[in-house]
Amino acid sequence: MLPLTSICLTAILAARVTATASLSTMAACHEISAAVPARVWSNHLSKNYYSEVNSYWSTALRDAKPACLVLPQSAKEVAAAVKILNKYPDVQFAVKSGGHTPNERHSSIKDGVLISTRDLSGVTYDGKTQIASVKPGGEWNDVIGPLGEQGVAIAGGRLGLVGVGGYLLQGGISFLSAQYGLAADSIVGWEMVTADGTIRTIDASKEPELAVALRGSGSQFGIATEFKIKAYPIGQVWGGMRIYGGGKADDIYAALHNFVPGNADDEKAAIILSDVTAIGGAKIFLIFYFYAEPEPPTTGPLAQFLNIDSIIDITSTQSYAKLLKSNGEGAALLQSRVSFRTFTLPYVKDAPHMYGEISDKFTSLLADILKNPLRLTSQCSIDFQPFPSVIGRHSQERGGNAMGISGSDADRILLEIQCSWSSHNDDEIFRDASKKLTEWLEVKVPEWTKGREYYLPYLMNDAAGDQNVTGTYRGYSKFKALQAEMDPEGFFKKRGGGFVY
Ligand SMILES: Cc1cc2nc3c(=O)[nH]c(=O)nc-3n(C[C@H](O)[C@H](O)[C@H](O)COP(=O)(O)OP(=O)(O)OC[C@H]3O[C@@H](n4cnc5c(N)ncnc54)[C@H](O)[C@@H]3O)c2cc1C
Ligand SMILES: *[C@@H]1O[C@H](CO)[C@@H](O)[C@H](O)[C@H]1NC(C)=O
Repeated sequence: MLPLTSICLTAILAARVTATASLSTMAACHEISAAVPARVWSNHLSKNYYSEVNSYWSTALRDAKPACLVLPQSAKEVAAAVKILNKYPDVQFAVKSGGHTPNERHSSIKDGVLISTRDLSGVTYDGKTQIASVKPGGEWNDVIGPLGEQGVAIAGGRLGLVGVGGYLLQGGISFLSAQYGLAADSIVGWEMVTADGTIRTIDASKEPELAVALRGSGSQFGIATEFKIKAYPIGQVWGGMRIYGGGKADDIYAALHNFVPGNADDEKAAIILSDVTAIGGAKIFLIFYFYAEPEPPTTGPLAQFLNIDSIIDITSTQSYAKLLKSNGEGAALLQSRVSFRTFTLPYVKDAPHMYGEISDKFTSLLADILKNPLRLTSQCSIDFQPFPSVIGRHSQERGGNAMGISGSDADRILLEIQCSWSSHNDDEIFRDASKKLTEWLEVKVPEWTKGREYYLPYLMNDAAGDQNVTGTYRGYSKFKALQAEMDPEGFFKKRGGGFVY
């Protein structure tokens, strides 16, 4: 460790607007800034610090000011920071890519060290091997755009503005999932900085067990600095968004109920069905459509949806890159505090009433909350995301993922329960309403399934911080042991935040 003179300390203190970080955190920041010159900021008013700390999807996370921000430009610089953090065992840190998780202490850290991959971004493509090398920083637009110019795509975000690193590490459901599995299933290699600061290259074909664990375990195995991902050909596609009035509920749920088992017969089709409750309990449906052909189908599971009259229709034939970009444009306007919570619902053939009951329950939980005119811009939604067993089949064909899905499981629907609001006074109110919904679901699902057993792991990308996601994985004990092997001191597990085994 460098000797820390009082002059340095005074300089660090003077550069900070508030000084609540511990002395050891400040010393760690100082030492990292010496080892990674000109890539560390602790002045809240500096451009890099300010823009990075303000670029969280949920505005609530912008309140967590790190003691310092590290913006490495290479795996070597990440490794240098990790080695120094190892010398300061009481210093907490967080790793951020796009900052789209709304969970506190996942990609954000108050008074600790924030390592952001912002400047480790972009993609290169090798046409011979059909492998894309993808960096964790930036957004999906930066990856899908350049790949599209070469006629290929990888399974990734459905809204182009979403971050890349956290998305890929947590599994990632894509418009291409019914064709190729979760986004993480197509990852064949990782470059990672492990707990002791080693830069390690992991090849899925040589370390298949570790590869399975890495596909959906989040941030606990290392800091990912590059992913090698299998790409697939793509041409013009059809899709976009349609908005429907609440009066179409019955038609929409009926179409959903047929879509989920029907998806296996037409893997090119995908939807996100967003069931929105706004102020005063007003309901609308927002559906993102995708079809991996230039024209929408006239038969099959998607066609039933397309026959329902919408209020607004911005679907069209376009490039995949353009579709993802425009899907994100409306969402980009959201400047709110946000919560996510997930639930995995089994597809129950003789319970087509499930979706309406779930929607009504959430609306009733929100009734008093959304009556208040001060919450004019607040809203909550349940995204019904079809998760047919064919996704599990593609996952298995590629070696499998941590979620442990397989082609012999039943079809499922992943629920993403989302709320957005503006006042910090409402933080607990909205998180609580979402939690009450999943508690209710825990009771209702066994009634709907009449006690039949289902394997219902959570998708980490959509989960709330208090949900024990890894505990829902079949391979929990095995992955926990692997994690402990790679991180014996608990560097990531005890100090890095995020979901843990
Ligand atoms: C508008 C919107 C649309 C979305 N659409 C989808 C979708 O289509 N499909 C889907 O599956 N999910 C979707 N999500 C959820 C999304 O996958 C998660 O929010 C995910 O966390 C985003 O990745 P990120 O890089 O922004 O994560 P961050 O918030 O930066 O990080 C999330 C977690 O990953 C860790 N992490 C990040 N980068 C690294 C790294 N390089 N090394 C190690 N750990 C790291 C962080 O420490 C943190 O624990 C969406 C979210 C939003 C807000
Ligand atoms: C999460 O679930 C696993 C598996 O059921 C369990 O062993 C573990 O204790 C749980 N963790 C927490 C924090 O509840």
